Amino acid sequence: MPQYFGQLHTNEAPWSILGAVQGIQQDERHILFKCGDACLRVSVLASNLIRVRMTATGEFLTRRSWAVAQADEQWSIVPFEVREKAEAIEITTEQLCIVVSRNPCRIQCFDSAGQPFAQDADLGMGWRTGAVAGWKQIEADEHFYGFGEPTGLLDQRSKVRTNWTSDALDYGIMTDSMYQTIPFFIALRPGLGYGFFFNTTFWSRFDLGAEQPGVWRMETQGSELDYYIIYGPEPAKILQTYTQLTGQMPLPPRWALGYHQCRWSYESQDVVRKLADEFRQRYIPCDVIHLDIDYMNGYRVFTWSPKRFAHPQELIKELQQDGFKVVTIVDPGVKYEPEADYKVFDEGLKNDYFIRNTNGQLFHGYVWPDKAVFPDFLRPEVQSWWESWQNSLTDIGVAGIWNDMNEPALDDRPFGDPGNKVSFPLDALQGPTDEKTTHAETHNLYGLMMAQASYQAAKKSRPTERSFILTRSGYAGIQRWSAVWTGDNQSLWEHLEMSLPMLCNLGLSGVGFVGADIGGFAGNATAELFARWMQVGILYPLMRGHSALTTAQHEPWVFGDRIEKICREYIELRYQLLPYIYTLFWQAATTGSPILRPLLYDFPNDPKTHTLADQVMLGSSILAAPIYRPGVEHRAVYLPEGCWYDWWSGDTFTGPTHILAHATLERMPLYVRAGAIIPMAPVMQYTDERPVDQMRLRIWRGKGEFTLYEDDGHTFEYQTGAFCTTTYQVITQGQQTIVEISAREGNFAPATREIIVELVGVDEQRFIDDGTAQQLIFNNSQ
Ligand code: NOJ
Repeated sequence: MPQYFGQLHTNEAPWSILGAVQGIQQDERHILFKCGDACLRVSVLASNLIRVRMTATGEFLTRRSWAVAQADEQWSIVPFEVREKAEAIEITTEQLCIVVSRNPCRIQCFDSAGQPFAQDADLGMGWRTGAVAGWKQIEADEHFYGFGEPTGLLDQRSKVRTNWTSDALDYGIMTDSMYQTIPFFIALRPGLGYGFFFNTTFWSRFDLGAEQPGVWRMETQGSELDYYIIYGPEPAKILQTYTQLTGQMPLPPRWALGYHQCRWSYESQDVVRKLADEFRQRYIPCDVIHLDIDYMNGYRVFTWSPKRFAHPQELIKELQQDGFKVVTIVDPGVKYEPEADYKVFDEGLKNDYFIRNTNGQLFHGYVWPDKAVFPDFLRPEVQSWWESWQNSLTDIGVAGIWNDMNEPALDDRPFGDPGNKVSFPLDALQGPTDEKTTHAETHNLYGLMMAQASYQAAKKSRPTERSFILTRSGYAGIQRWSAVWTGDNQSLWEHLEMSLPMLCNLGLSGVGFVGADIGGFAGNATAELFARWMQVGILYPLMRGHSALTTAQHEPWVFGDRIEKICREYIELRYQLLPYIYTLFWQAATTGSPILRPLLYDFPNDPKTHTLADQVMLGSSILAAPIYRPGVEHRAVYLPEGCWYDWWSGDTFTGPTHILAHATLERMPLYVRAGAIIPMAPVMQYTDERPVDQMRLRIWRGKGEFTLYEDDGHTFEYQTGAFCTTTYQVITQGQQTIVEISAREGNFAPATREIIVELVGVDEQRFIDDGTAQQLIFNNSQ
């Protein structure tokens, strides 16, 4: 347990509880309830979004919300009605009613059918020295999702989730604090879902019925309770509003959707070259090679090892010519090295960019470069300075930046000695001059602000090119700046299994571009585990293989021919699916919808999906039921309502039903919904090998629609309208299936290509796509 834990716990004094409403004030957005010294404010930001703030002192803090991209005053005013009744005050928007009882002051929400949600429990809201808390009811059949990357299963009901970014080394199903801190969740029961964002960056905790079944509790440090309630009722609507509030992800470059290969470490430029050659010689598609810490000179950030990576620019150029992009790791800890001509340290010291203790001394900890100091990324001038150093990488062609150890992770004595994980002192001050505050308040923001610096640096250095940023730590809103991976998992079947709910919960926390280390980071995968993991890996929005120092190699070819063939086949399938997956990224960027999602996202009213953690959907058309145990070739699969097709055999099933899938090592059970339309590209060795000159639309009989999104895949021009969409519709009527292709819309013209419309199991038709509308008719009995 981290040393600082004791200091973070709030004290055990009894809570003072919010009392009766004594007065009400109202303006066009806010309703203020005075309750003695304390007061409560309800702000209506949208017809499905309210913000609730409670302060014991009667003074609301003016501090900005670091995670919030759209502040209160940026939401357009929406109508609502306030009715003062004897017992309560009712605030009614177009979608919900908030009832604030007068004595004691408590909040309840209702949907338009009168169903309650997010209702205060008996205690309501309270405070004690240095802490505030709120208690709410858990409704029957309610489940809880999101919370960043919780381990264990999907539903977090009856768990405790602590929000304090931590180096979760050796995590397992009982681990609480993780690398990411996202104090947001979705509560769902059949017919009703709402989102809850706890707007605090201090240590905070949700108890989801662990202490008192039927009541969930939030607690944080500070003097103000501040939260947002987002009414759905569907998860899709909740995430749309939540990502409007905390920001949407930008579209990554298309190459970042290809396969990434990583290891700690490919230790020299020769090893990296050989690795790249292997991929090309073996015809295993790959777009990205990551360089872990050993490319640096003595782990000094923004340096290259003169021995092992003597000519980085040439290496990157050669790799580029072969279709590879290079991503380099960048850690926040700067080697403490006075008078050694290490400019990053010298400049940071001279300009006072590193975090100090309250006694004015530089704070230091121990990380890879031994004694290290840490930039204060909350200060804009520190971000700009970091940008200039990051440019030293991007200027020579590094295409992406991988931020690691930014919880931040550090030891209190030299790495290798048995030491303790420590954090900055909680009273160390951080932030811009006019917003300086303690580490207690900013700890959870360290990764977020480092990722922001990285994103902005990449954009400044290559203003027209999209960048790829990857981070281990983050806070709510991290999707604006970076992709996220689930840190140091292990080469265990349990970790393969757990990657699905972890990534699904990240998706339900608004973070779409996510992945887990394929093959497992720590430990040695068996051939079978590796093959099964690679199959699952094609579903990860970020598809990266990685492994730790001293573990067995985990490249796709190291386990022999059979496994290599499986890896090739599945990575090829990933590349074929890229037009579909890229469209899912566009949907994520514009609506907040997760790319990889649990079944409950598309079937929220089917209670069987509410705890289903070992099946996932890639977009709303493809359902995967991976194998995640050794020696297993059969598994139960739940298919929700509707007609489903087996991707491989074309067999049909009518849901809701359970089936027994047969899955030899070569097969990951995959299903599509009737009426699914999946655009597929030819296999390429890397995403930009050549323009897509042929697109296959795999269509399954039924009724369905899909809008394909396309743009140039690498610039920001899509933001000013340079993209196009094509809507495909399918309908099967009796013996006929009709495919309608609407005229292409938008200002981007894809390369000329042949379209093959394959009505799966029936026939295919081809035409040259000139963007005009088409209608194709198939005779189903062909
Ligand atoms: C910890 C990261 O989680 C891991 O991915 C990386 O390989 C090591 N640090 C070494 O940089």
